[in-house]
Amino acid sequence: MGQIQLKQVTKSFGDVQVIPPLDLIIQDGEFTVFVGPSGCGKSTLLRLIAGLEDITTGHIEIDGQDATDVVPAKRGLAMVFQSYALYPHMSVRKNIAFPLRMAKLNQVEITKRVERAASVLNLTDYLDRRPGQLSGGQRQRVAIGRAIVRDPAAFLFDEPLSNLDAALRVGMRLEISELHKRLETTMVYVTHDQVEAMTMADKIVVLQAGVIEQVGTPLELYHTPRNTFVAGFIGSPKMNLMTGGEAAKHNAHTIGVRPEHIDVVESGGQWQGTVGVAEHLGSDTFFHIHNTGLAETLTVRAIGDVNLKHGDTIHLAPRVDEIHRFDADGLRIA
Ligand SMILES: Nc1ncnc2c1ncn2[C@@H]1O[C@H](COP(=O)(O)OP(=O)(O)O)[C@@H](O)[C@H]1O
Ligand SMILES: [Mg+2]
Repeated sequence: MGQIQLKQVTKSFGDVQVIPPLDLIIQDGEFTVFVGPSGCGKSTLLRLIAGLEDITTGHIEIDGQDATDVVPAKRGLAMVFQSYALYPHMSVRKNIAFPLRMAKLNQVEITKRVERAASVLNLTDYLDRRPGQLSGGQRQRVAIGRAIVRDPAAFLFDEPLSNLDAALRVGMRLEISELHKRLETTMVYVTHDQVEAMTMADKIVVLQAGVIEQVGTPLELYHTPRNTFVAGFIGSPKMNLMTGGEAAKHNAHTIGVRPEHIDVVESGGQWQGTVGVAEHLGSDTFFHIHNTGLAETLTVRAIGDVNLKHGDTIHLAPRVDEIHRFDADGLRIA
């Protein structure tokens, strides 16, 4: 089991409240991602759940039991950090076994659990190596192994991949998702990277300045962002947000159109502009367009290779049913 509930939780450091009253339920078995810009309180929230920080007011329940005053080691949660502090002089086997030796489990049980974790993580062949003889990805897996053997109610990850290079990050992202499918254990994962959030999460919690802006599945956030913050944060390249006359035509203060929902046409499109930078990726072309009279830069994603270059005039047709409308407070208009 691993349901985690935050009830009216707040956190202040001195006089500064970084988490205003916050309610959240993380369901058993769910992969929940906290995402938001740097400094928005993601790590703090995770550390409150882990018990590494005391909450200022409110309650935390784990599987329906009040855990607010329970020490971290007794919460049954396992935290995997970004800097995966392994013991360099110990073998992989000993590193993974370490929390079990601390908990004074018997040797037979320790061996059984370490070997099971190693098998799940494809580390069986590396058990007798030292961390220095492993790649970054393998070291990260050892750190996860150390968490798995404790058979936690939930795993807590704080930006575990941000030290890895881009290719490895994509690989580890898949591995952690795969691991979640296999273990079916609750995972709470913190990242500032919305692509990581979109690709891994069952449920995304978008935070800004300690406040939950929206909770939903990746596609709920993509299709129906509650406000302009979520609209601009989720999706890559970012949604184009426009105010002024074009928004007024749609009875809104602000309208938003994703780059992939604006078609490049030969002529006769509703909008036109001048191509600035054109990023040719082969699979897609991203155009950064100026002089549209709509926004300083409009970003448009065309499928495949579209042969327009810097300075060319581009004709655009936004898909009207994909236009998001927001009021003067930035809230979505249904
Ligand atoms: N120990 C601390 N003492 C004082 N302020 C802190 C402490 N830890 C975090 N903060 C502040 O709380 C806010 C949230 O920080 P953090 O949770 O680390 O953000 P994130 O993980 O989203 O980047 C920041 O403004 C940060 O400066
Ligand atoms: Mg952080």
